[in-house]
Amino acid sequence: MESDALWYKDAVIYEVHVRGFYDADGDGAGEFRGLTLKLDYLADLGVSAIWLLPFYPSPLRDDGYDIADYGNIHQAYGTLDDFRMFLEEAHRRGLRVITELVLNHTSDQHPWFQEARSSRTNPRRDWYVWSDTPDRYKQARIIFTDTELSNWAWDPVSKSYYWHRFFNHQPDLNYDNPAVREAMWEVMKFWFAMGVDGMRLDAVPYLVEREGTSCENLAETHEVLRDLRQRVDAEFSGKMLLAEANQWPRDVREYFGNGDQCHMAFHFPLMPRMFMAIKLEDRKPIVDILERTPEIPASCQWGTFLRNHDELTLEMVTDEERDYMYDEFARERRAKLNLGIRRRLAPLMEGDRRRIELMNGLLMSLPGSPILYYGDEIGMGDNIYLGDRNGVRTPMQWNGGWNAGFSSADPEQLYSPIISNPIYGYQAVNVESQRRFDHSLLSWMKRLIRLRKSTRVFGRGAIELLAPENHRVLAYVRSLGSERILVVANLSSQAQAAELDLRRWKGAIPIEMFGGNLFPPIGDAPYLLTLGPYQFYWFRLRRL
Ligand code: BGC
Repeated sequence: MESDALWYKDAVIYEVHVRGFYDADGDGAGEFRGLTLKLDYLADLGVSAIWLLPFYPSPLRDDGYDIADYGNIHQAYGTLDDFRMFLEEAHRRGLRVITELVLNHTSDQHPWFQEARSSRTNPRRDWYVWSDTPDRYKQARIIFTDTELSNWAWDPVSKSYYWHRFFNHQPDLNYDNPAVREAMWEVMKFWFAMGVDGMRLDAVPYLVEREGTSCENLAETHEVLRDLRQRVDAEFSGKMLLAEANQWPRDVREYFGNGDQCHMAFHFPLMPRMFMAIKLEDRKPIVDILERTPEIPASCQWGTFLRNHDELTLEMVTDEERDYMYDEFARERRAKLNLGIRRRLAPLMEGDRRRIELMNGLLMSLPGSPILYYGDEIGMGDNIYLGDRNGVRTPMQWNGGWNAGFSSADPEQLYSPIISNPIYGYQAVNVESQRRFDHSLLSWMKRLIRLRKSTRVFGRGAIELLAPENHRVLAYVRSLGSERILVVANLSSQAQAAELDLRRWKGAIPIEMFGGNLFPPIGDAPYLLTLGPYQFYWFRLRRL
């Protein structure tokens, strides 16, 4: 594996839930042994890092984001030895591993909370946030609006209220308590020392609470991060911290600090705007948000994504934009969840291969390291009739046989039903059938990932937006050193022509990257390109 400490800048990350990938022991749910058996698939796909959803002991009331023990593996997913084996096998294939650090809250089943609630004088009492009234921190919004009415929950044992930003069974830890910070550092050390390469810091804006504020993005929270980063840097090298901060770009910017907090942060506001742009058939939403995206320190990187294990969140859009997104992408009431839409990429694109390719083509060429959600590389569907976000967490579809090749268990025993409708069902959408054809989505995704990785421009280069008169066309130049890549994308459902002002690169020859074919050299005249519906080009600009 390359030893470059900035590996995350060139990474293509694959997000996967160990439970949903491959069930090797036939009990109806995936486990580390199963995931290990599928590492060749991921290596062949071409991704360079795997981000795992939480796999720790947990009552699984929030699919593992409710942790009951930070130092072990949920028995349904295997043992620590299975995890070590998985890590070693991933590394052997050059794949890095990113795990979840759920530092804002624990499960109410965690022994820390059990002790803390046992009496008001317990030494662990101060590890959580307590109050005699539910009236404190009134300005903090509720995140899981479909299930929670308050951020305070009544604890009948110690007869007081505890603070929780997510489900009421997920009490928030108290980061004003140095013992909590020490405990979380011990957790980080344990996994990093084992060889984990990076951690996604779940729900990181909410660590610290202060009266009279929104209790998000507080200076004290950033102080906690700076402290953890310093410790990571002092003891380890080449590790990466990824902030999950669903905030506006200027607020997310703070999570990079001066390169002394997180290495990466998700670009939440860009994501819904990519969907808006393709619906509006207009580049404006993407251009606007890129223009509002501040510069970040050289060692830092955005994490970009189209879909993930949660609902497609619409927190970072205006009310009008949210209404528009619901109208266009969630006409069925059941598709909505909290402030978002619980659908996968392919159904959001109405199964349209051209739009799926275009969205991925943008994802892989815009600034940042792209994160793919398992199953989206074959265009898997979802099931909005399952509760919460479970409809986008169904078993991976490996083939058209028994349980989609995911498990040998009885179908009734599976942790979740498999998608089986005629359009996205496993008989139609699965890895094995797509492997057979060069033109399947899977084969195309492999080519896209390979091209993306053929250069460092996409991960490390600058972006310059072009402004062709035709606003249905998005065009930008990525550049690093003397390398230039021109991206031109037709966001509309109809053929378009665009004239690009490329005079600065006069004399260069655009080479279309998928086919390697030469296009006419750039001269003084506006460079004319025609594009079919939802078509996009990546051109290397080669000077003669
Ligand atoms: C995760 C969710 C989880 C929540 C609470 C999030 O940001 O992505 O899946 O429910 O944190 O831990």
